[in-house]
Amino acid sequence: MKVAFLSALVAVNPAMAGFDTWSPPGPYDVRAPCPMLNTLANHGFLPHDGKDISREVTANALFDALNINKTLGSFLFDFAIKTNPKPNATAFSLNDLGNHNVLEHDASLSRSDAYFGNVLTFNQSVFDETRSYWTSETIDIQMAANARMARIRTSKATNPTYKLSELGTAFSFGESVAYVVVLGNKNSGTANRSWVEYFFEHEQLPLHLGWRRSAELFEAIDLNRYTDEMENLTNVAVQEAARAASRAPRGGH
Ligand code: HEM
Ligand code: MG
Repeated sequence: MKVAFLSALVAVNPAMAGFDTWSPPGPYDVRAPCPMLNTLANHGFLPHDGKDISREVTANALFDALNINKTLGSFLFDFAIKTNPKPNATAFSLNDLGNHNVLEHDASLSRSDAYFGNVLTFNQSVFDETRSYWTSETIDIQMAANARMARIRTSKATNPTYKLSELGTAFSFGESVAYVVVLGNKNSGTANRSWVEYFFEHEQLPLHLGWRRSAELFEAIDLNRYTDEMENLTNVAVQEAARAASRAPRGGH
């Protein structure tokens, strides 16, 4: 009777599934190039060892921690599973996601390009470039677009093996949208900068700074809407830069 009562409580109260629990990865635990999946493993929404993660576990974790609907969670799992090199796999491990140029791509916001080093672990100097574009206490889609473009410019200028495939481009837009409107607010299209910085740097949900699981369900339609907006802002900025370059005096005369 008591056990049934307790498990019913766990089922309806995601707070007991990990918001109050957090520990960093141990020596045998694996982690991803994705700060959010790492965060969910550190909280125990995903297995703490980061290994053998099924479709159901993925969708439940994204729903319980972030109120992402299970259809979108399952859709993301379909991409994750492609990174497991074993044929007919039904689960992935977080480090599989680091296999270069499957989903993992160059010009990340907080990780080195594969050409320079480890794509899985947080890199402070890469992240410092990204966050220098978050120019107020509230991050909006324009600032996130600017940070993303800057990382791409730097990568193109410095990495002789630079590559961003069509899938990599789509993922990189989705990632930049996600830290604003999944961690932040999908109605305003903004996020509290201190929450976002804490999340990237500690791979922990910033509950102590006031962050709470969104009361509203996050769905594919939200992701698509903000991705379109970021693409438009990016195109406008690229066209303006090209116009400015064509007006600039050349050759000293
Ligand atoms: C990065 C996969 C869910 C936020 C990544 C990367 C992968 C990935 C492979 C590395 C790309 C790269 O930078 O090279 C996944 C999968 C998910 C998932 C399979 C679900 C099953 C989420 C969610 C968020 C998120 C829910 C919400 C905030 C991010 C961010 C990055 C990222 C911000 C960029 C990190 C950086 O550029 O340094 N994800 N992700 N991800 N992901 Fe996730
Ligand atoms: Mg990367």
